[in-house]
Amino acid sequence: MTPVQSSNPLPWHLLPDNSEVSADGRLLIGGCDTLELAAEFGTPLFVYDEDHLRARCREAVDAFGSHATYASKAFLCKAMARLAFEEGMGIDVASGGEMHVCLSAGIPAEKLVLHGNNKSMSELALARQAGVGRIVVDSDDELDRLESLHTADGLVPDVLLRITPGIKAETHEFVATGQDDSKFGFTVSTGAAKAAVDRAQESPAVNLVGIHAHIGSQVFRVDSFSAAVAVLAEFANPLGLPELVVGGGLGVPYVEGEEAPSISQWATIIRTAAAETGITAQIGIEPGRSIAAAAAVTLYTVGTVKQLPGIRTYVAVDGGMSDNPRPVLYGSGYEAFLPRAVTAERTDRVRIVGKHCESGDLLIREASVPADLVVGDIVATPVTGAYGHSMGSNYNKILRPPVVFCSGGDARLVVRRETFEDLLTTDLG
Ligand code: LLP
Repeated sequence: MTPVQSSNPLPWHLLPDNSEVSADGRLLIGGCDTLELAAEFGTPLFVYDEDHLRARCREAVDAFGSHATYASKAFLCKAMARLAFEEGMGIDVASGGEMHVCLSAGIPAEKLVLHGNNKSMSELALARQAGVGRIVVDSDDELDRLESLHTADGLVPDVLLRITPGIKAETHEFVATGQDDSKFGFTVSTGAAKAAVDRAQESPAVNLVGIHAHIGSQVFRVDSFSAAVAVLAEFANPLGLPELVVGGGLGVPYVEGEEAPSISQWATIIRTAAAETGITAQIGIEPGRSIAAAAAVTLYTVGTVKQLPGIRTYVAVDGGMSDNPRPVLYGSGYEAFLPRAVTAERTDRVRIVGKHCESGDLLIREASVPADLVVGDIVATPVTGAYGHSMGSNYNKILRPPVVFCSGGDARLVVRRETFEDLLTTDLG
C-alpha cells in the first residue's frame, strides 16, 4: 500500500458520543464492543449509539419544543420514529411510505408533517384521513387535489405553504433547494408565493397556519440560514400567521478538518435572526442529518485487497453503493478506521470499494488506513447514520444490512438483515 504523509488517527469527534476504546484498543459504542457486534450480527452492519440520537433530539426540543420535527428521510425505522417521538419531536414524512412506517410505529398522526413536491391523491387522502398534524403544500396542483378531496369528505387539514425564498445555499447542487430555479415550493420573487397565500386563505379545503421554507441540506454556513430567515420574515411577517418553519439542513463534519455548528448553536443563529427581523410567529425546525448522521458507524468486512504497484491499492468490502450511495451520488467523503485499533495511525492510502458490478462503486476514494489492514479485518466508516440506510438499495440483489441500537452495553437489533426470501416477496414469477 502507498504510504501517505498524513498519518493521523481517526478524528475522535467523528465517532458517536458514547464511544470508548477498550484496554486492548477496540472501539465500543454505547458500551458494546463493535467487533462482537460484527460477529453476532454479521457485516455490513449499521451500529447506532442510541443515546447520541436521543441527545440530539433533546437538543432540538430544548430549542424549539414540539416545533422541532425530525426529518425521517435521514433515517427511519419504527424504533427511530418512536425514539424521536419519545424525545418530544414531531416527525417530517415525505411520502406515503414514511407516513406508513411512522403510523405503524404507533406515532400519533398529529405529530406528523407531510412533505413532498408531488404528493399523490392517495398520499393526501391517507394523511387527511389519518389526521396528520400539518400538510406542507408545495404547489397549485396540490391545492387542486386537496380541494377535490375536500369536496368529497369535507375534511379541512391544517397546512403550511412551502415557499422558495431565492437563497442559494452553499452545498452540493443536488441538495440545494432554496434558489429560485427549484422544483420545490412557491417562488417568492415571481409573486407565486403571495398568490398561493391568497388562494389558501380563501380556500375552504385548507386551514393555512403558516409558512415553510427549506434552503438545502449539508449547509455549513450559518449566514445562509440567517439570510433565509430574513427573506421569510419579509414575506411572512405581514401575513400574521402563527407558524414559520425554517426547515432543516444543518451540515455535519464527515471528514478530518470539517467543522459545523451544533444544533444548539444553529438554533441560536435562527432565533437571533428571527428576533432581528421582527418575527413573532412560532418558529419550527426540521433537522434530519444533524440528529442521525454522527450517531452511527457502518461495519464492513474486508474481503479482497488488490495491490497495483505504482497505481493504487483497492480494498474491497462486503457492502458498497447499496448501503451508502452518497460517495457515488454526491462525491461525498468519508473516513475509515479499524475498530480493532481505533486510535492507530493511518499511514497507508487505499481506495475502499464495494462489491457491486461497476467501477463507480466506491465508498472512499482516498482512504487513510493503518498499514496492517488485512483481508478479514472489520473496517468501519463513521458518520453513516443519515442518508445511508435510508438511501440503500438492493442493487445486484445485495441484502440490505441490519441496524443495531446500542445503549448502556445492550445491543438491540431494530432492523434485521434482509434474506434471499425477502428479495422474492414482491416477485410474482
Ligand atoms: N426538511 C425538508 C423539507 C427537507 O427536504 C429536508 C431534506 C430536511 C428537512 C432535512 O434536511 P437535513 O437536516 O437532513 O439536512 N440525500 C441527501 C440529502 C437530501 C436532503 C433532502 N431533504 C444527502 O445524502 O446528502
